[in-house]
Amino acid sequence: MLRLENVTKRFGGLIAVNQVSLEISQGEFVGIVGPNGSGKTTLFNIISGVYFPEEGRVLFEDTDITRFPPYKRAPLGIGRTFQIPRPFSSATVRENVAVGAMFGTLRHKVGVDESMEIADEIIKQVGLEEHRDKQAGGLTPVEKKLTEIGRALAMKPKLILMDEAMSGMHPNDIDQMVALIKRIAKEQNIAMVAMVEHIMRAVVGMAEKVIVLYQGAKIVDAPTREALQDPKVVEVYLGRPKET
Ligand SMILES: Nc1ncnc2c1ncn2[C@@H]1O[C@H](COP(=O)(O)OP(=O)(O)O)[C@@H](O)[C@H]1O
Ligand SMILES: [Mg+2]
Repeated sequence: MLRLENVTKRFGGLIAVNQVSLEISQGEFVGIVGPNGSGKTTLFNIISGVYFPEEGRVLFEDTDITRFPPYKRAPLGIGRTFQIPRPFSSATVRENVAVGAMFGTLRHKVGVDESMEIADEIIKQVGLEEHRDKQAGGLTPVEKKLTEIGRALAMKPKLILMDEAMSGMHPNDIDQMVALIKRIAKEQNIAMVAMVEHIMRAVVGMAEKVIVLYQGAKIVDAPTREALQDPKVVEVYLGRPKET
């Protein structure tokens, strides 16, 4: 469904993403891990259209979207959450989630009232019912993340990119959250790409495939179990023993 071919993004002299190729299939759950600064967010920004790469191509369902701006990608079914949530603070949770319905794959197909109904459904799914009519600016960080996930789901996307979606959450909440998201994604055949800095049990444990980024380059791309046993992964997180 999504294919990146030799994608490179530079910021001045720094190569943030270096010749990365990868494929995501329909309904697949992929974990992308890598230390801080390894290029995860930049990769997301390339897939969602915030940045255009200097080299390489991005294909979604065989359409070359390398130079599509974000507002042309969302209606194709590419949803995302942000590392730092920025809700419309004075709007309610319900209104924030409804925005996803208005600008996602249903764009121009649903009116405001229908978008609100879709938001109500999604709010139930992510467990934000008691906060539905509160201003989003007053939510806790975890509730803001849930609102973002809700907004992405309301887009009725084919692919959701979650940037550090679980950071700042308690491990128990993470387990529950990932299980919930995975269940919804499976039901609706949505591909999920979750990016996290650390090898989080919940994210990595439920992913079918793990991709490891290091200094902008992809160093591992394998089924989860195999990826975690790869000596390169250990090296990236723990360093190399001195004698070698
Ligand atoms: N807008 C930017 N301008 C300059 N450098 C950037 C910008 N965005 C990211 N970088 C740099 O690119 C590298 C990768 O960053 P990032 O994609 O945010 O990594 P991650 O999300 O894995 O922590 C880092 O060295 C970072 O400082
Ligand atoms: Mg990041």
